[in-house]
Amino acid sequence: TGFVTLDSGYMNTGACTSAITFLDGEVGILKYRGYSIEEIAEKSSFLESSYLVFYGKLPTAAELKAFEERIASFDDVPEGIKTQIKAFPKDAHPMAVLSSNMVSLSAFYHDLCAQDLTPAQKDTAIAQLMGQLKVVAAYAYRHSQGKEFVKSDKSLDYCSDFIHMMTGDKNVNKDVAKALDILLILHVDHEQNCSTSSVRMVGSSKANIFATISAGVDALWGPLHGGANQAVLEMLEEIKQSGKGYEAFLAEVKDKNSNSRLMGFGHRVYKNFDPRAKIIKVACDKVLTTLGVKDPLLDIAKGLEEVALKDEYFVSRKLYPNVDFYSGIIYRALGIPTNMFTVMFAMGRLPGWMAQWKEMVEQPGFKICRPRQIYTGDTKNTYKDIKSR
Ligand code: CMC
Repeated sequence: TGFVTLDSGYMNTGACTSAITFLDGEVGILKYRGYSIEEIAEKSSFLESSYLVFYGKLPTAAELKAFEERIASFDDVPEGIKTQIKAFPKDAHPMAVLSSNMVSLSAFYHDLCAQDLTPAQKDTAIAQLMGQLKVVAAYAYRHSQGKEFVKSDKSLDYCSDFIHMMTGDKNVNKDVAKALDILLILHVDHEQNCSTSSVRMVGSSKANIFATISAGVDALWGPLHGGANQAVLEMLEEIKQSGKGYEAFLAEVKDKNSNSRLMGFGHRVYKNFDPRAKIIKVACDKVLTTLGVKDPLLDIAKGLEEVALKDEYFVSRKLYPNVDFYSGIIYRALGIPTNMFTVMFAMGRLPGWMAQWKEMVEQPGFKICRPRQIYTGDTKNTYKDIKSR
């Protein structure tokens, strides 16, 4: 019964209406709540753009201050979470630590696990998750280094505090904090991507907000999605170490039997430059110059990009650098280790996930997500006793 059309990979399936993020992939336009990403990246802050996507409007000065203070008030996690982080092997991937501890928070905050949250509880949820994701991420890193956790300092802004909690140094370079803030802004939301759709899918069963966000973290981890930022850096390292020329490397990528891809290139929606990649490339040059960092991987990335953009394979398929192509080089210059890159993406995307979840549960006619299929298996089998199979 019912009519089923097939669209594997959701190439052309709209599952919701949304007023959060506008994306025109043919032209390369991205807007949060109608404001262009270029303007937001230049003039706003990560917390202000988080407020914007979640509440649907730019905050007044008082609203922003209250939001920042509320987030900063969630400056620690329960003892059980700290014990759990310490129980992980030191070489655990920080995305594993992040995902499992985000869902574990549900064991400690029963009121936020209610089926339907009140507006006040939603206000708490966004502030608490943004505060505590930062704490879990920093603690995961400290544990991987065999170092004691560093307590959050409320007097620092969000990004400076995160860097302080990673390094233990309160004198955070302003340029470093600003660069991180811009990177997080660029990741805030990107409409119905894989992790956001996972958040909507899981949240649609009315799973609690911690479980719902943990699902977003898991989907993000994959190398075709947020995990690409780590994969790009590893690819550039490999090119550097092997001394392979760009053409030789690209020949491997173009070979359909090789199963390898030019990581940080291509996008489901952008068939033109990813506007975030443009901003990041400029920021990358600026950050490295300001910090006096010379990174041979930046030269390799630029060289690869130049050759790829002239290559018929990439041109005909409209494959351009995406947000992940240059972001890792900035994270590296800021002193953030490669396996933390996708955690940084999660930190940036959290407000988008929260906004999309809120929009979904508040929409009239909200329903559990439940796709259909076209069944291709047997229909006429009869059970055979195990002895006669
Ligand atoms: N390197 C080489 N070939 C590619 C690449 C690439 N990075 N991306 C796409 N192609 C080819 C693909 O092989 C296919 O060729 P053909 O038509 O001959 O079969 C064609 O381009 C279309 O690709 P697709 O896989 O059908 O496109 P998609 O929309 O399903 O996939 C993508 C989008 C982002 C998963 C893909 O471009 C990719 O794997 N890129 C590398 C991973 C990456 O950088 N991911 C980050 C995405 S942006 C940030 C985020 O979402 O987190």
